[in-house]
Amino acid sequence: MSAVYPENVRLTADGTAVRILDQTRLPGETVYLELKTPEELREAICALRVRGAPAIGIFAAYAIYVLCLHSGAADERQLRLFFARQKAELDSARPTAVNLRKMLDRMERVLDSAAGRPAAEILAALRQEAEQIQQEDIAMCRAISEHGLALVREGDGILTHCNAGALATSCYGTALGPLLLAAERGITLHAWCDETRPLLQGARLTSYELSRAGVDTTLICDNMASAVMQQGKIQACFVGCDRLAANGDAANKIGTSGVAILAAHYGVPFYVFCPTSTIDFSCPDGAHIPIELRDPAEIGRKYFEKPMAPEHVKCFNPAFDVTDHALITGIVTEKGVLRPPYVQCLAALLEGGKK
Ligand code: MRU
Repeated sequence: MSAVYPENVRLTADGTAVRILDQTRLPGETVYLELKTPEELREAICALRVRGAPAIGIFAAYAIYVLCLHSGAADERQLRLFFARQKAELDSARPTAVNLRKMLDRMERVLDSAAGRPAAEILAALRQEAEQIQQEDIAMCRAISEHGLALVREGDGILTHCNAGALATSCYGTALGPLLLAAERGITLHAWCDETRPLLQGARLTSYELSRAGVDTTLICDNMASAVMQQGKIQACFVGCDRLAANGDAANKIGTSGVAILAAHYGVPFYVFCPTSTIDFSCPDGAHIPIELRDPAEIGRKYFEKPMAPEHVKCFNPAFDVTDHALITGIVTEKGVLRPPYVQCLAALLEGGKK
């Protein structure tokens, strides 16, 4: 991978802590943190120091390994009790991105299958699984980026919302992958980044990542998306996903469903980039996806020098919304692009995965 892509999650060289690039400090400062206590690790997820569905899953896998390493558990029974407590704590940090729970479940299955083995071997197996999860993510990013790039032509304008790039994964990202891959290959695409209120992932992270990689990048306020589509500047919308339900409904950053509705109005194809690790086959539809509610102060105060709303005004701050599957032109996975009807092709994907 080229050096322009940030390395956001890994174990420290001595393997005793998780090292992250603190995404809350970007784009102004590049600060790395080494985390090892339960409080530090959970706080990093809650505060979005590490964020983006795949990156949260990778981080959680390393985090639970590091916590087990320092647990001081005297035997396997104690380790199991400790694991269960820490898993519940980490899992409760953010509710919407399914990768967090799925990767913790994966780590738990390793613990279960290592039953009866010495503690050192169990720990080695946990570390190996966390590293495997990250390796799979890197391969996923490459494949999903190729599939996405095949959907556009040289010179196209791509609108994106929030950040689904290298910072949200361990390589090119998902929805930003085609743009980064195109830049590597000398293919010109034009990125239009919604700033993504209220936490500004589009401004702080997406425009940072894309411009550093040499992609022609233009930042817009969220409420300008309609105008740029109306002016014919956008040939496709590429967005990420935090949880895909079994019927194809897709939860992603708040505002994504509005982009999908605009895209349908203007006849612009709307693609959701969703690695298979982000599909929740146990969730029948979008109404069953838990939506994170965040601190109302993020709307009127955060990132402003002075409060931008009266103290007493109520604020409603859902961090995600659900895009109805009927608005999605294609779901891009690392295995290829799914087209409607999604219930059938997702069921086939699940069946295929069992073989
Ligand atoms: O609240 P965030 O910043 O974690 O939200 C992230 C997103 O909505 C991303 O689009 C999604 O996680 C996909 S990342 C490949």
